Amino acid sequence: MKKWFALLLTMMLMLALAAGCGARSEQTTKKEGSSEGKTEATDDKPIVIKFSHVVAENTPKGQAAEMFKELAEKYTNGKVEVQVFPNSQLYTDEDVLAAIQQNNVQMAAPATSVVTTLFPEWTIFDFPFVFEDVEAVQAAMESEEIGGKLFNMLKEQKLLGLAMWDNGFKHMHYSGKALVKPEDFKGKKFRVMSSKVLEEQFKAVGANPVPMPFGEVYSALEQGVIDGGENTLSNIYSKKMHEVSKSLTLSSHGYLGYAVITNAEFWEGLPADVREQVEKALDETTQWVRENGEKMNKEELEKIKKENPDLEIVELTEEQKKAWMEAFDVVYKDFEDVVGKDLIDAVMKLRKQ
Ligand code: LMR
Repeated sequence: MKKWFALLLTMMLMLALAAGCGARSEQTTKKEGSSEGKTEATDDKPIVIKFSHVVAENTPKGQAAEMFKELAEKYTNGKVEVQVFPNSQLYTDEDVLAAIQQNNVQMAAPATSVVTTLFPEWTIFDFPFVFEDVEAVQAAMESEEIGGKLFNMLKEQKLLGLAMWDNGFKHMHYSGKALVKPEDFKGKKFRVMSSKVLEEQFKAVGANPVPMPFGEVYSALEQGVIDGGENTLSNIYSKKMHEVSKSLTLSSHGYLGYAVITNAEFWEGLPADVREQVEKALDETTQWVRENGEKMNKEELEKIKKENPDLEIVELTEEQKKAWMEAFDVVYKDFEDVVGKDLIDAVMKLRKQ
């Protein structure tokens, strides 16, 4: 009888302890999760910023995320801990905006093409040949008419745009002879990001677009599910797409950049001194990406050549580019209502010729 009583007492004690722990972890979660917009660091617990992205570490975005982590932790004296999750470890680009809205991750830098799923006006970045160089994109983002308008609309959906990070210009990787004429695309399957304009771009040259998360591209190429795709040299190299392709056409036909996005309530709930330091870290990182993104892409071309000497690499002549532009031109008319004529005109004004 005594034994039973002792056992019962032990169980009650364990239950009481477990309930106590539960209550404590709930308190912590509320603080960290900032569901009430309040976020505080305590001496033993920093504010955690989970940063999710889909590319490899040796890319402009991968390096930038690491640099941001290092600077944010340094400038806040450890009041902030940035946890970076590369290679779609946490979320694909297709899921990440919802994850930020739910505050499951606090930061991400999805391609602007992915932002179009919530805000179709962002489609402007996917228009073929719309920006002549990265400087034109930066000028667009700094203007109130373009960048101001695009960043402002994110707030309607609990999001806050913090910065724009460039990767660079996209080129065509393909499983056959290099794509040179618009007719070369006919009947072939090309992977695209989640963006209607990108689908339309391939349809305009008689190809079949296949929307697919970034993390699945390599095996889709390897298994012949797709014939090719478009991406920057750093993305092609870091995911070894050059190893499962026969040709690479240096076309620079489209821009790939990232909107660095956070959960608006989380960001506004950060203590002012912490936010200021984190923003300083972000500004410096953005500056680094601007100075190094293009450089990294150039370096990757040399590595691609070295690692796959059999890859046919063709750079389009101005004449050939013109033929692509004419073939893709239909996209501008078809998406005028989606993007808005004002926005298109404002971007076109930035063109030199
Ligand atoms: C892609 O899906 O091809 C890119 O958006 C990946 C990235 O984030 O650069």
